Amino acid sequence: MTEKTISTRYREYAISELCEEDQRLVEAAKKATGGSYAPYSHFNVGAALLLDNGVIVTGANQENAAFGAGTCGERSALYNAGANYPNIAVLKLAVTAFTAGDFVADPCSPCGICRQAMIEFETKSGKPMQVLLVSKDRVYVLDSAKDLLPLGFTEF
Ligand code: THU
Repeated sequence: MTEKTISTRYREYAISELCEEDQRLVEAAKKATGGSYAPYSHFNVGAALLLDNGVIVTGANQENAAFGAGTCGERSALYNAGANYPNIAVLKLAVTAFTAGDFVADPCSPCGICRQAMIEFETKSGKPMQVLLVSKDRVYVLDSAKDLLPLGFTEF
């Protein structure tokens, strides 16, 4: 038997410490919360992607009275990019949430299904997807979507 450890490296920044490009992406994710439809959870998620061609694509969670029919902000953005820019890599994904009158106090972190969707996009493009988990004033930066899903399923 061999015991092994998987660790996750990430960096924490104040939003004001980010480069201009990343601050723009964070602002786009915050703005995208305005497109959220979340009458059930009142948790308005916004996501913004920076594509390899410089385009920013956004998405927001879309809920449904039949709960399973809803989708998260991250997948809304990713599938928007996949449908409109099928062969362009997603270089960065920023996600945040607005609830109870303010942006979240702790950086917003993707659910397991979104992590699975993220690693599929990363794997198919062959380029790392940097992930920015955003709160009201802080950001965690991870250099690859795979960092959020250790031992993830990528082949069949
Ligand atoms: N949600 C997202 O949009 N992204 C996540 O990664 C976690 C959860 C949404 C789903 C639902 O509309 C609301 O947040 C509450 O769970």
